[in-house]
Amino acid sequence: MKDEIFYYQDKSLYCEDVPVEKIAAEVGTPFYCYSSAYLEGRFKAYHQAFGDKRHLICFAVKANSNLAVLHTLSSLGAGADIVSGGELFRAIKAGIPSERIVYSGVGKTEAEMAYALQQGILMFNVESHQEMQVLEETAKLLDKTARISIRVNPDVDAKTHPYISTGLKKNKFGLSMDQAIELYREAAGSRWLEVTGISFHIGSQILETEPFINALEKIQGIIHELSSSGIKLSYMDLGGGLGISYGNEVPPEPEDYVSATLKLASGMDQAIIIEPGRSICGNSGILVTKLLYTKKNSLKNFYVVDAAMNDLGRPSLYDAFHEIRPVSEKDNELTTVDVVGPICETGDFLARDRELPRMNRGDLLAVMSAGAYGFTMSSNYNSRPRVAEVMVRGTRFEVVRERETFNDLVRGEKIPDWEENGS
Ligand SMILES: Cc1ncc(COP(=O)(O)O)c(C=O)c1O
Repeated sequence: MKDEIFYYQDKSLYCEDVPVEKIAAEVGTPFYCYSSAYLEGRFKAYHQAFGDKRHLICFAVKANSNLAVLHTLSSLGAGADIVSGGELFRAIKAGIPSERIVYSGVGKTEAEMAYALQQGILMFNVESHQEMQVLEETAKLLDKTARISIRVNPDVDAKTHPYISTGLKKNKFGLSMDQAIELYREAAGSRWLEVTGISFHIGSQILETEPFINALEKIQGIIHELSSSGIKLSYMDLGGGLGISYGNEVPPEPEDYVSATLKLASGMDQAIIIEPGRSICGNSGILVTKLLYTKKNSLKNFYVVDAAMNDLGRPSLYDAFHEIRPVSEKDNELTTVDVVGPICETGDFLARDRELPRMNRGDLLAVMSAGAYGFTMSSNYNSRPRVAEVMVRGTRFEVVRERETFNDLVRGEKIPDWEENGS
């Protein structure tokens, strides 16, 4: 295998040691394709950078929740950061031990809390006073102790897209530092809550270490204040958020991020938890799609492909850039095209005004950097079955989620009896 995970050999795009065309011939298009070697490499980069500092890497399941991805990471020692009962179910099914699971999110339901308490997760990252009260009541009903951290909103600008910025006062996430300290004092007096950690998360696709460090400095202030009033914390959960390169971005490497963090935190008693998602799996995956039609009008050229905004929503949702490569390298002249899907929305595009070689009906395209927030954000809009997911390991590949069928589309639906009776 070459150094790069996705590379051309004899003008054919490979994932590890497998030609992408070979997968397409067996699986059909569109499909997501993930490299297990990439996932492992990124996880190990984080893990090794911590050296002997006690730490836990809780992969953010929302970024990619395929069982094969979770299992690959779990077998290296990863835990999970979850935000729903469904993600907890997946994490457990993939073999992630419950004592390596942290639960974030502003809207945990009582049923979800009960499920997580029964599973014995490491801690709940509590985001409001009411949530803490409900958690306490739920724990009491089940005669369990809920380990908690308070998610602090450090009011730090992560300098990222406003939709994925989470650590500003105006965002719905976490509690102010003053509120957090009050909640810790209340929780410390509860028989059903065990104060375990402190957490923050300031956003996603962050391209500098500075915002993380600013947030960490603020959190250290709270830890010291709590410690002086006898409240000791075992964990500092620093969230996720490290960016990746989709094109020209030059994000810090996991090693840079961890070493910047350790400069501040290595001497502290608390073990460090991080919740990376995108930076582990984003560049592990591509979305492979087939060119259905080329068309042009007086203004534009279009490549109409068989993947759409329901399969990869990021371009439509955030105007996000994804590099697009031909699966079979072409020497043809370049042309400027919009790469669009079959969905009946003008917002259904994967790329706009992009220079690509002249291609023909039936040619394959790879949408790069699609391993995070790709399949997990996909939907059945326009009654399109969700695509297959494939994982590659060296010379082998396996379908790790089958393409949905038309029957999957209507699973659970019914026509009410009154329609059939004609009444
Ligand atoms: C609480 C929490 N943890 C972790 C993540 C993962 O972030 P990323 O994929 O940017 O690493 C997110 C993403 O929004 C989040 O909200």
